[in-house]
Amino acid sequence: MDEHPLSPNLGGATGGGDFPAIDYLEWYVPRLQAGVDHDLSQSGFHHPWDWQKITGGKLPEHLTTSLTKAPLDPRIWVAEREGIEVSRVAGGHGVSQSLIFALLAVMNPQKPRKVAVEMPSYAPVSQFARALGCDVLPFWRGPTSSTDCGPWSINRQSLESIIDDVAAVITTPMQNPTGWMMTPDDQQWISDICSQHDVGLISDEVYIDSARGTDDYRPMHRYGDHCVSVNSLTKCYGLGPLRVGWIIGSEKTAINASRAFQNLQGSLAVPSLRLAELAWPIIDEPLSLIKTRREKNLPLLLNVLAANGIDWSPPPSGIFGCIPLVGTIDSLQFVEDICTTHGVLAIPGLMFSPKLTQFVRVAWGGEPKEFAAAMEAFNLCLQELK
Ligand SMILES: Cc1ncc(COP(=O)(O)O)c(C=O)c1O
Repeated sequence: MDEHPLSPNLGGATGGGDFPAIDYLEWYVPRLQAGVDHDLSQSGFHHPWDWQKITGGKLPEHLTTSLTKAPLDPRIWVAEREGIEVSRVAGGHGVSQSLIFALLAVMNPQKPRKVAVEMPSYAPVSQFARALGCDVLPFWRGPTSSTDCGPWSINRQSLESIIDDVAAVITTPMQNPTGWMMTPDDQQWISDICSQHDVGLISDEVYIDSARGTDDYRPMHRYGDHCVSVNSLTKCYGLGPLRVGWIIGSEKTAINASRAFQNLQGSLAVPSLRLAELAWPIIDEPLSLIKTRREKNLPLLLNVLAANGIDWSPPPSGIFGCIPLVGTIDSLQFVEDICTTHGVLAIPGLMFSPKLTQFVRVAWGGEPKEFAAAMEAFNLCLQELK
């Protein structure tokens, strides 16, 4: 695969030496910290949690004590919400860490220590297995043209050609950067091919809760014992800093994942769990506000795109989508040279793959007044492409 200084660094097992960077984060975080007038870069919803109200202005009782009469066990909350047995759930710090436990739980130990990773994807998801001593081999689920913004389909041949050689497969069914859910046909196909080859299937579902209550809500743990769903309170609930994440799989997977957790982490961050415990009774509030923001903000984005000759359909849920740029400009150049001069920050598609040169990811989850101002600025950016 071609290299690009912003794209995921796939390759072999790693440790020490020149440890591979997450190039995109090294690019993005300083820009965010420097401050932007119009932030269209969010992948997670910034829900206005009112902690004063939730806590009654006091620190939670037992802030640093885990063993209390009422158990502090996020597995119970998750199992109840998902309608499954608690014994099928294990915990971790965010999706990022839970992916490690999930992979260690379901990879086939008889196979080569290699993992098939979906591309385009968020670099930590496609790279982390290298730090566990695995080679990562890409398979493709990307655009078929420079205007194809999703839903993207799996290039089946690209996975078929490597499946014999891997111990596990990693996918993000509700995809970053498109925001589209994997098609039902692809989802069944990827589950089947993993099952036929006796390899584990790890599913990053950090965006899927935006589709709860719709036909698109199809967590992979429903597709068989070889599948494991990984999720967190980060993106759809706006609680990333709490680092509350979880895994759902078969009972055996959950036991394995809990053992991996005990080997590598030992215990969860109790103050975070105490705050999550207080937020849990109103955990659906961010999902409702995401819907309201879509209704208010998306029409403004569609107007700006139409005014600039961009024909685009948004994904049915969530707060971001992938937009094609007109002309031949590269997305990094667009963001750095044009968007910056108008105070706009968006995400170059190159963050997900060196092949996504002509797409930018744009978020519409912002506060409506601020979003309206951001759209005026974004309109100016797009006009410069004409
Ligand atoms: C696909 C994907 N998975 C996982 C994460 C990180 O999730 P968490 O904060 O739960 O570790 C991100 C963050 O951007 C992401 O895009």
